[in-house]
Amino acid sequence: MLRTHTCGELNDKHVGQEVTLCGWVDTARDHSGVLFVDLRDRYGRTQLVFGPESGQAVLGQAKSLRSEYVIQATGKVAPRPEGTVNAKLPTGQIEVRVERLTVLNSSLTPPLQPSQKELPGEDLRLKYRYLDLRRAEMQKTLFLRHRMTKIMRDYFDQLGFIDVETPVLGRSTPEGARDYLVPSRVQPGTLYALPQSPQLYKQIMMIAGYDRYMQIARCFRDEDLRADRQPEFTQLDLEMAFVDLDDILRVIDGLMARLVKEFCGRELKLPLPRMTYDEAMERFGHDAPDLRFGMELIDLGDLAAEAEFRVFRSAVESGGRVRGINAKGAAGRYSRKGIDELTTYVQQDFAAKGLAWFKVEEGGTLASPIAKNFDATLLERIAQRMEAEPGDLLLIVADEFEVTCKALYGLRKRLGAELKLYDLKEMNFSWVVEFPMFAVDEEDGGWTAMHHPFTTPRAEDVERLDSEPGRCRAQAYDLVVNGYEAGGGTIRIHDQKLQQKVFRLLGIDAETAAARFGFLLDALQYGAPPHGGIALGLDRLVMLFAGMTNIRDCIAFPKTQRATDLMTGAPGAVDAKQLRELGITFRRDEGGERGGCTCRDRS
Ligand code: AMO
Ligand code: AMP
Repeated sequence: MLRTHTCGELNDKHVGQEVTLCGWVDTARDHSGVLFVDLRDRYGRTQLVFGPESGQAVLGQAKSLRSEYVIQATGKVAPRPEGTVNAKLPTGQIEVRVERLTVLNSSLTPPLQPSQKELPGEDLRLKYRYLDLRRAEMQKTLFLRHRMTKIMRDYFDQLGFIDVETPVLGRSTPEGARDYLVPSRVQPGTLYALPQSPQLYKQIMMIAGYDRYMQIARCFRDEDLRADRQPEFTQLDLEMAFVDLDDILRVIDGLMARLVKEFCGRELKLPLPRMTYDEAMERFGHDAPDLRFGMELIDLGDLAAEAEFRVFRSAVESGGRVRGINAKGAAGRYSRKGIDELTTYVQQDFAAKGLAWFKVEEGGTLASPIAKNFDATLLERIAQRMEAEPGDLLLIVADEFEVTCKALYGLRKRLGAELKLYDLKEMNFSWVVEFPMFAVDEEDGGWTAMHHPFTTPRAEDVERLDSEPGRCRAQAYDLVVNGYEAGGGTIRIHDQKLQQKVFRLLGIDAETAAARFGFLLDALQYGAPPHGGIALGLDRLVMLFAGMTNIRDCIAFPKTQRATDLMTGAPGAVDAKQLRELGITFRRDEGGERGGCTCRDRS
């Protein structure tokens, strides 16, 4: 070993010992001829002192040290002089008086300092990821991630789950995103799809009798990226046979309790609360509501129908909704200009036609430019319905149901953050259940699966498949944490006829079904047990438990919003020879994108 101790373990018990440490130069300060170097490694920081007793040679050598040099230093552990003890640092009691120094490697001036407080732009951090990963905060998050997956594996092992790896090169799995495709050299003209999830393999494992499967699985989805989405991400994936919805929710409840105990140091009250999809849309306008604060949506339809105000009345008359939220005590916080900004926000981001508002004055009257359009008693009833008190700001949207959902969900979320209505450290868990089986496909007006096509309807809704599929509810559930969809799953169809029927409803004809899912339709005929499962977004869970808002900070080597890896430069052009072997030529597109031109020109 090049070292006797790490940079995080020395304290006053080691005083007098000779030790050797290795690490990176975090900071170096020269105090009139005495040099103080903070040496850093994964475990912490230790102060090294180079003074006259180090000898001229060593002192001279130390003066050449710069940030991020890698060194080995041997010396005696000494108590820090009075007044220089750093109680915040585990090694803050001591320092090492260096007698021998070896520079193991030098460093160019780093474009980002791992110890600096203000972060540079994210692009720089991603390009020099090895420097960024040296930062204590990144290390903390990656250790949390490691501990989380360890707890998960132990938890499921104790419950008798078996960890099975499923292929990365496979057939397309319909999770609703675009596939990443990999051309086959051996079978020219054919392609593998990278899995959007191990969905069908885990169902096959149940049919194969393995009863309880789990995997920490990498998934690939070519979709528009956001702060909580990556093109490749990790799922805690599981599947169980001979279970119903309650069994699966209970298993995940137990896991969440373990994680909360470990990372938040408290007991989680179980079972986690459940709410139906309809209730979530009604109360919060969204299927993943943030329950850390109130400000629920309030229906004003019956009152709006009586109003002179054309905007309200016509919304109700045309089958739409009039709903609002009460931002408690926020009237003073939002000036006319502030409210105009909120109006533009709902108009631009959610296609709402406008935003009606009232400020509640002393004495309880509702003040607004539109107040003149309402008679006094109606205003009073609106105030009452919205539990208005002086100082409140009432915001109301009249529109189609979906628009009121989106606009008020957006407003609630924005106001919740702006008014700091929740504690950033709080964690809130809940289930949303009874999702619709189908949603209307915006492209062709047909049905599309709300979760995926292998989801079974609620027993009492099976007959609705023929008569009114739009009102058919699924045995589907999402785990919601602080307003994020942290996981989702369903009880699956294990009856081949029902599966065929659902394919048909989704517009997948028998031929296509046979070509894409023939193996599943076959397998369902060889003794498929009732089964169901769920997948949790691991990166999202780490983000939530680490109290972060950017999924990229929870992944060692993430991709940018444009799905590139700034460190390695992926995706990149490949050799013409490789392309020839795969039978690929690139079209010269108008845009003349990098890949398009260079690849073809070289071949
Ligand atoms: P679903 O598509 O809902 O279900 O995915 C499960 C969970 O994975 C996370 N997730 C993502 N995380 C980061 N980046 C992404 N692009 C991304 N997409 C999804 C979310 C989500 O809740 N096979 C089904 C599960 C099942 O039915 O058992 C599935 O993949 O947290
Ligand atoms: P207008 O009659 O369009 O001038 O709108 C009068 C007020 O009502 C403005 O403050 C608009 O922002 C608001 N408003 C317009 N349409 C809607 C709507 N669909 N829902 C809520 N408020 C609206």
